[in-house]
Amino acid sequence: MKEQQNILITGGAGFIGSHVVRLFVEKYPHLHIFNLDALTYAGNLENLKDIEAKPNYNFLKADITDRSAVFKLFKEYEFDSVVHLAAESHVDRSIKDPSVFVKTNITGTLNLMDAALKCWEKDFKNKLFYHISTDEVYGSLGAKGLFRENSPYKPNSPYAASKAASDHFVRAYGETYNLPYIISNCSNNYGPNQFPEKLIPLFINNIIQQKPLPVYGNGNYTRDWLFVLDHARAIDLIFQKGKLKSTYNIGGFNEWKNIDLVKLLCKIMDKKLNRSAVSAEKLIEFVKDRPGHDKRYAIDASKINKELGWQPSVSFKEGLEQTVAWYLSNKEWLERVSSGDYREYYKRWYVEN
Ligand code: NAD
Ligand code: TYD
Repeated sequence: MKEQQNILITGGAGFIGSHVVRLFVEKYPHLHIFNLDALTYAGNLENLKDIEAKPNYNFLKADITDRSAVFKLFKEYEFDSVVHLAAESHVDRSIKDPSVFVKTNITGTLNLMDAALKCWEKDFKNKLFYHISTDEVYGSLGAKGLFRENSPYKPNSPYAASKAASDHFVRAYGETYNLPYIISNCSNNYGPNQFPEKLIPLFINNIIQQKPLPVYGNGNYTRDWLFVLDHARAIDLIFQKGKLKSTYNIGGFNEWKNIDLVKLLCKIMDKKLNRSAVSAEKLIEFVKDRPGHDKRYAIDASKINKELGWQPSVSFKEGLEQTVAWYLSNKEWLERVSSGDYREYYKRWYVEN
């Protein structure tokens, strides 16, 4: 028997993953946390500078699509549990190049599960494969209704389809090979360290630079926003107490139309930047819509609330203020991540599209 449990967190250098890694490293000094990440454009070890020297933390640079590398790591470290966040995560990129989403999100997930099965050799005591997924697998809602754990899957973007496929494989591995799994499907996250291609950090970055704010279509699309630390807390609770072979929906009880959210963000930024004379709202431009754009997402998070006592703790206004403050005091981070590949992407998607 090993003295210490080894926990593998994949995608820990990314946005949500870095908050989960920090929470686990700080909360569980008796667990050894391994952060496996390929450091794609979205992965950044700067996100974890404050905890990188902790004795219970290790970084493993590896690509989950590299099957033999994944098997080798499982053999070497005998991970007891996996919290799997590594993924290609941006809808617009999936529209331009779906194939990398298939490779990372589906094949990568399979590689991890196969390696876990081999390592655990059918002794599943205290083992867990926890797959982090999205509400986008359910497709789009009309004006009414909420996504529940038993809502049918109807993904509309290549990103959502790849996550839906990975969810199905995880469930199928549970049924077929008895893999002890849990899946959670969360709504849109926001907060510090999010790559500035997603709506909120992209618009914060553009407001700082006084660049246009490209609102897709008429801006009447609705998302349910959750502060990233509340998601990390939910992941921790599910990791500790979630029921095996089940799924949990996680959401913010916080629906916003894009245009209303953007106007609120402009107000907060005007105040922080002392630019109220000419509001950032002037930068809003309605641009060509995203193909297959989902109209509305909204989560019924009552199962996790009832079973595990989780609920969001940060109000949207408070969370947005904190997020804006973080980006304003981390302008170098923003500049560094928005160079190179990002500029190329921005040009292809927003200028040439
Ligand atoms: P992100 O794009 O910020 O980070 C993804 C991380 O995965 C990066 O560190 C990247 O380097 C790593 N990665 C990518 N491909 C890899 C590979 N082949 N091998 C190893 N590492 C690889 O993503 P995020 O927004 O933090 O999302 C994390 C997870 O949560 C994803 O699975 C996503 O589907 C899910 N999710 C995200 C949201 C959201 O609003 N951002 C909401 C619900 C669920
Ligand atoms: P995004 O942050 O990409 O998350 P998702 O597509 O996973 O929900 O987008 C959030 C919403 O904002 C979505 O309705 C698309 C819209 N959006 C814009 O209007 N303009 C933009 O430049 C981006 C990136 C998103």
